[in-house]
Order: sequence, then structure tokens, then C-alpha cells
Amino acid sequence: MPRWIHERKTEYYYQKAKEEGYRSRASYKLKQLDKEYQFFKNAKKVLDLGAAPGGWLQVASESIKGEGLVLGVDLKEIDPLDSENVETIQGDVTDPEIQNEIIAKFEGKADLILSDMAPNVTGIWELDDIKQIYLARIALMIADKILKKDGWMIVKVFMGPEHDSYIKDIRNIFEKVHIVKPKASRKSSAEIYLVAKNLKEKRNLPKIAIKNELLINEEEEKGPIPGDQLPEFDDDKTSKPIR
Ligand SMILES: C[S@@+](CC[C@H](N)C(=O)[O-])C[C@H]1O[C@@H](n2cnc3c(N)ncnc32)[C@H](O)[C@@H]1O
Repeated sequence: MPRWIHERKTEYYYQKAKEEGYRSRASYKLKQLDKEYQFFKNAKKVLDLGAAPGGWLQVASESIKGEGLVLGVDLKEIDPLDSENVETIQGDVTDPEIQNEIIAKFEGKADLILSDMAPNVTGIWELDDIKQIYLARIALMIADKILKKDGWMIVKVFMGPEHDSYIKDIRNIFEKVHIVKPKASRKSSAEIYLVAKNLKEKRNLPKIAIKNELLINEEEEKGPIPGDQLPEFDDDKTSKPIR
């Protein structure tokens, strides 16, 4: 067995997830964030973007005590969960038809939006970063349409060249934004989580465009992309059910 697989399989949160029946070690990131901010406290309707294999769905379903609705959306098929309040859609959140399906499900009444979305990494940091932030911007666009005024949004972003401009975007939309690295997130991973609360009355949404297969925020398009290298990504390659 290659060393990196061995290390991953003997890692603390990986083992804990296996023992406690969670589908991914990512479950503990969400639990730790909720311990600090208690966003599940009054939540009844939850959207989970990038939900496969379902670790966050399990935590969300338990945290709202099996009531309400947790809708998980992912490109990949999600094995059915044994919880009546969980529904899933297999689809691409960048597809307007899928977005409309999500919007119709919530009718402006979502209490909490979770986004742990990450693209398949190419190893070209600038491109991976642009793609990841594009997904996070789509999540903002959906939040603008379905979240209650006093709702919460938890979104993963990579700390790459696009990160600062995304923080500005999310601060244009939410009253409060916290930047957090939960303990369960590997130090070597470039990911951080933004915990945002209360939609602003007046919101400036980022403009999103697709160009030459690179996904670019039109307002940010200023020529060459800065060449800072991102640290190693890892968690996105571990998004398989733990067996
Ligand atoms: C890190 S994993 C999520 C892990 C999940 N939170 C859990 O606890 O099991 C990121 C997910 O984002 C999904 N994803 C990436 N791009 C997407 C897109 N355009 N639409 C929907 N899901 C997407 C991937 O398929 C992947 O399953």
C-alpha cells in the first residue's frame, strides 16, 4: 500500500469516522464549526452543496433531529441515507436547471446553506483556485435566492489568489462573516471555512462568467492571474465513503 494511503487510513479523524459510522472525516469539521457557532440550533431546512459521499448530510440530519429537510446536491450519486428528512439531487450546481430545482424546493425558506464543494483538482493551483471560488460564488447566488434573512451559510474556500476577492463578495451579502479553520481540517490543506450570518438588506452579488473553460468573475478579470502557489490540497481527494 502506498505510504500516503497508509497515513490517511491511520489518521485520527479517518479512524474516528469509521468507528462512529460517518461517511467522511469531513463530518468532524462541520461538528466543530457548529460547536462554535450553533448554526443548527433553530434550523429546519438545510441545503448541502457538494454533499457526496454524505458525511455532512449525516451530521445535518442528526443535528435537526430527523425533522425538516436536508437537501444534498452533488455531481456524484449519493448512496441513500437511512434518514427520512434527507433528500438528494444528483446534478451540477452550475447548471441553471439544477439551480431552479433547488430554489423551488426551498421557496425562500432555507435556514442554513452548507457548501463543501471542491472541483476535481488539476494540480495547476491558479486554475483549481478559480474553479473552487466559482463554485463558492454559485453558492452565494443560491443563498441570495433561498436563504431566510436571519439564515446562516457555511462555505469552504481555498486560500489562493481568489480568496480575498471572495471574502469581499461574501461580506457584500452577509452582515457577519467569520473565517475559521476547524481542527479536523488538515494543516497541510489550503481550505478554510467561512461562517456567515444574516443576509444584508441591500446585497451586491458578484457577476459570474464562463470564459475559455476558465471560470472568471467578470469584475476581477484584470489580465494574468497571480502565480502564488497554493499549499497542498488534500481533503477533496478523500471524499469517498469510508468503508
Ligand atoms: C469534499 S467533497 C464533499 C464532502 C462532503 N461534505 C461530506 O462530508 O461527505 C466535495 C464535493 O463537491 C462536489 N462537487 C464539485 N463540483 C460540483 C458541482 N459543480 N456541482 C455539485 N457538486 C460538485 C464533488 O463531487 C465532491 O463530492
